[in-house]
Amino acid sequence: MKVIVTRDNQEMSQKAADLLQLCMEENEESVLGLATGGTPRGTYQELIRRYKAGELDFSHVTAFNLDEYVGVDQHHPQSYHTFMKEQLFQHVNMNIEKAHIPNGQAPDLQEECARYEALIEKIGPPHIQLLGIGHNGHIGFNEPGSSFKSETHVVDLADSTRDANARFFESKSDVPSQAITMGIQSIMKSKRIVLIASGEKKAEAIRRLLSQEVSEDFPASALHSHPDVTLIVDLSAYQKI
Ligand code: GLP
Repeated sequence: MKVIVTRDNQEMSQKAADLLQLCMEENEESVLGLATGGTPRGTYQELIRRYKAGELDFSHVTAFNLDEYVGVDQHHPQSYHTFMKEQLFQHVNMNIEKAHIPNGQAPDLQEECARYEALIEKIGPPHIQLLGIGHNGHIGFNEPGSSFKSETHVVDLADSTRDANARFFESKSDVPSQAITMGIQSIMKSKRIVLIASGEKKAEAIRRLLSQEVSEDFPASALHSHPDVTLIVDLSAYQKI
């Protein structure tokens, strides 16, 4: 795992955008794995800035998002569909037909998971996967205890994850209790993985990640077995090392 420590969130976002840009330049039909949460926001802003400056073209990009809440309308302000539209897609020349996000409202969730995984196999896997990390080490919504062999599946969200995401909803009780997430094995299929982390609240998760312990109790530790992972972490998330 290559580790890049940056001064702050802004530099972290720029470096992550550099890697996504490189991937788009290297692959005419690039496939990007994208993430939600507070952490990638700056990266998306940087990509939008570069697009507006004429440095990036999204017309040939296919995107796969990691996850979506179960039972939340795609147009709900806190759905990950809405997040991606507002944070990136509507600001660039992305073909929205090529922007894939699991459907958390599918009548048959198991069928939806199988469809999504098959699509990743068919069109993907991503040339590069952007990831954040949960306080408990989750990646996507793969909570502690998730099998490293898991593919796209329905997950019950950990209480701590619902607490952490309550800030985006009116109250914790509004946070959905389930999500569809790409599994750890689905994530590991990407050719390159970039994990970004910022702020003191992530310091303990980053310390644990860099301790080299590999365990299903700490989902991000699966990344130690991937041949091309870059961790971009700002100083405040790196402080406990
Ligand atoms: C969320 C998402 C993850 C994200 C993580 C951290 O629940 N499912 O993909 O990486 O939790 O989020 P944040 O960046 O807001 O700290």
